[in-house]
Amino acid sequence: MPSHSPHLSSHFSATGPWDQILPIPLLPTHLQRTAPIEGSDAFWMTEAWLESMRNHGLTRPNPAVGCVLVNAAGKEISRGITQPFPGLHAEKVAMDRVIDLPSLIGATAYVTLEPCSHIGRNPPCADLLAKSPIRRIVIARTDPNPLVQGQGIEKLRASGKQVTLGVLSHEVSAWNLGFLVKHTLKRPLVALKWAQTLDGQLADDTMKSHWISGPVSRAYTHWLRQNYDLILVGAQTVLKDFPRLDVRDCNLPHQGEPLPILFDPKGLLLNPSEEIQTLLKNRTFLPHRKHVIVTTQTNLQANPNSWVHDLENVILLAQPGQKLIEELMQIIQGPEVTQALGRDVQSIMIEGGSKTLSHWISAGYGDIFHTFIAPVLTGGDKNRVTARKLLSQASRLHTLASAQLESDILIEMISQEIKERIFS
Ligand SMILES: NC(=O)c1ccc[n+]([C@@H]2O[C@H](COP(=O)([O-])OP(=O)(O)OC[C@H]3O[C@@H](n4cnc5c(N)ncnc54)[C@H](OP(=O)(O)O)[C@@H]3O)[C@@H](O)[C@H]2O)c1
Repeated sequence: MPSHSPHLSSHFSATGPWDQILPIPLLPTHLQRTAPIEGSDAFWMTEAWLESMRNHGLTRPNPAVGCVLVNAAGKEISRGITQPFPGLHAEKVAMDRVIDLPSLIGATAYVTLEPCSHIGRNPPCADLLAKSPIRRIVIARTDPNPLVQGQGIEKLRASGKQVTLGVLSHEVSAWNLGFLVKHTLKRPLVALKWAQTLDGQLADDTMKSHWISGPVSRAYTHWLRQNYDLILVGAQTVLKDFPRLDVRDCNLPHQGEPLPILFDPKGLLLNPSEEIQTLLKNRTFLPHRKHVIVTTQTNLQANPNSWVHDLENVILLAQPGQKLIEELMQIIQGPEVTQALGRDVQSIMIEGGSKTLSHWISAGYGDIFHTFIAPVLTGGDKNRVTARKLLSQASRLHTLASAQLESDILIEMISQEIKERIFS
C-alpha cells in the first residue's frame, strides 16, 4: 500500500464522496466528484465502493464491502455488496449473479477489501475467486481480521491469479475505519467532533444554545452519526441543548441510528428541576429510542429515587469514578452497552461539549477529528477544547480531508497511531 501522506482525493470527506453524502439541494458545486477515467482500475474500484455504500449501517460488525466483476473486454458482468449481517459477502453475491459463466474467462474482480480466507457461514471468498476463470483481482486494502490478514491474497496468488493491491486504499480505509481499528488495535475507534468559532469557542460565554455552523455542516454531522455505533455528549450539553442525537437530512437512506451515551460524572441529570425533566422527556428521551446515562456510584447513592429510573428505554450505568474516561471506555465495551446496541462496539463519536472533549483528549484519546470552523468571532474563553500540552510534547495530527462547506471549513484529521497502523 502507498506510504505517503494519507490525504484523500479532493471531493472526498473522511467518510465518503460528498455527492453521496449531502442531500442534493445542499451539495455545493465544487464538491461534486469527477469520475476517474472510464475503464481504469480507479474507475471500477470507485464503482465497487459506491455500491458498498448502499448497505452502509446494515452490515456491522462486518464491513460494508463492494465487488464488481468486469469481463476481458472491459464490460461489467455483475456486482454485489455485503448483505445485511449475517448475510453473504460481496464477492459471493456478485458471483451468484453471473448468468453467462464463460464471460468470467480473463475477467477482473474489483473488491474493496481483501477476500476472506476462512470458513465462516460461507466458504472462503478467496477460494471462490481462486477456482473461477477470473484472471486478475484488484483489491483496495488488506483485511486485518486475524482470520484473514493477508491469507486471502496469498491464496489468490498461489492459485495463479494476478493480484493488484492498494487502488483507492486510503478512501476505502477511511470508510471502514471502525472495523479496521477494532481488528488492528483491539478497541473501538474514538472520533471527536465539534464546531467552533474562528477564535476557538464551542459556545459563547452565555452558553445559550444556538448553532455555530451552517446547514451543510449540520447535514454532514448527521451523516457522521450514522457512521458510528455510539455517540457521546456531556451532561451540560444535554441540559443546555436537549439534543435529539439522531440521524436526519442525509442523502443515503438512514440505516443506522447510533446509541446515545450521556456522560454525567457530576450527576447533573439525576435530579433536575421539573421544568427541565419535561423538556428532556419531550426532546431527548423519546421512548422509541434507547439512551444510556453513565454516572458514578457516589451520584447514584446520593440520588436513590432519581426520576431517571422511571424513564422508558433509559439505561443507567455507574462507574467507580476514579479514572473517569478509562472507566468509561471499559463501560462502553461492557455487556450492558453491547446488549443495548445489539453487537460489539466498533466506534464512538464524542460530540461535546468542550469540557467532555477536553477530558477525552487529556486522557490520550482521539483517533479521528471532525472539526468545523465557522466564520464567527465571539470572544470569551469558557468553551474551548484544550489539551494542556506544550507544543514540544503535543502529538501531531495528520489532515486526511478538508472541505469548504458553504462558509464553514471542515478539517478531518487522524492521529499518528492511526496513520501508521491503518493508512501505511
Ligand atoms: N460547538 C459544538 O460542537 C458543541 C457541541 C456540544 C455542546 N456544545 C455547547 O457546549 C456547552 C456545554 O459544554 P460544557 O463543556 O459546558 O459541558 P459538557 O462537556 O456537555 O458536560 C460537562 C460536564 O461533565 C463533566 N465532565 C466531563 N468529563 C469529565 C471528566 N473526565 N472528569 C470530570 N468531570 C467531567 C464536567 O465537569 P467539569 O466542569 O468539572 O469539567 C461538566 O460538569 C453548551 O452550551 C452546548 O451548547 C457545543
